[in-house]
Amino acid sequence: SWSMAAYRARAIDAIRKQVGDAKVICGLSGGVDSSVTAVLIHEAIGDQLTCVFVDHGLLRKGEAEEVVRLFGGHYNIPLIHRDVSEMFLERLSGVSDPEQKRKIIGGSFIEVFDEEAQKIDGARFLAQGTLYPDVIESISAAGGSDVTIKSHHNVGGLPDDMKLDLVEPLRELFKDEVRNLGRELGLPEVLVSRHPFPGPGLAIRIPGDITPEKLAILREADAVYLDEIRKAGLYDDIWQAFAVLLPVKTVGVMGDARSYEYVCALRAVTSSDGMTAESYGFSHEFLARTATRIINAVKGVNRVVYDVTSKPPGTIEWE
Ligand code: XMP
Repeated sequence: SWSMAAYRARAIDAIRKQVGDAKVICGLSGGVDSSVTAVLIHEAIGDQLTCVFVDHGLLRKGEAEEVVRLFGGHYNIPLIHRDVSEMFLERLSGVSDPEQKRKIIGGSFIEVFDEEAQKIDGARFLAQGTLYPDVIESISAAGGSDVTIKSHHNVGGLPDDMKLDLVEPLRELFKDEVRNLGRELGLPEVLVSRHPFPGPGLAIRIPGDITPEKLAILREADAVYLDEIRKAGLYDDIWQAFAVLLPVKTVGVMGDARSYEYVCALRAVTSSDGMTAESYGFSHEFLARTATRIINAVKGVNRVVYDVTSKPPGTIEWE
């Protein structure tokens, strides 16, 4: 639209003025906000921007490859890809408490990001995909006096000893405007319209302890579920949809034999801001078809249930 074209031009101007010939680093998560931020800044200052993708091994099927292909390959943006999935799994081993998981993931994320940032000679700025609602929330949280960076946000909190100034070109925008700006910048529609995804990733969709086996099962089940949603043309009607792998095994029958495998829960909600949400009303036929396909295609799952809880009293995620 014309307004986004104008915003794009103004934002590029402002970025050039702010940054001059200094270097900028930007954390990529695979989500809409950091992607739009990176592409916009790249358009403004080219190779003065380096992106850092800390791959914690908790992304969905194919997501890490997609980030590397799109930014390193297609856009040719200098991209540091740190695969730290083994380290994260090790640190998460035996951890069941949800807040403990978040702490470990958030802390390790900042540690690795910081390591990579130090290596970029002359980096003076950190780019973040902070949106207007984040700014408002932070201002009210700080009593109107200061803007603090939301600690659970994708790039994490800003370490005190990292003396980088912030570049936040999306600060005036709401989510739907960021999506339009992404379209204006020519980002692929699958990325632009992507559902929100939590920073701690699949770790908080595996209640109990996380193992490589459980992660692999969840990735497959989630991919089948999302594929069915897309095929049914429902993706854009839903705020978030995902599978959860329960730490419970139940008995089933497979051919003539008894099976004893995990339960997979499916979640889909409508919402306008994530603060409140309603369970999405799929047809029974859709759910039955999806359950059958998951059980046939995903080894390790023999039962599928659908979560009909609203928020409140439930939350969108299971932990
Ligand atoms: P809940 O589960 O609290 O989720 O209803 C509301 C929204 O926030 C996302 N979420 C998170 N995002 N780090 C994030 O970056 C987190 O630790 C986290 N926990 C929940 C959730 O996916 C939903 O969009």
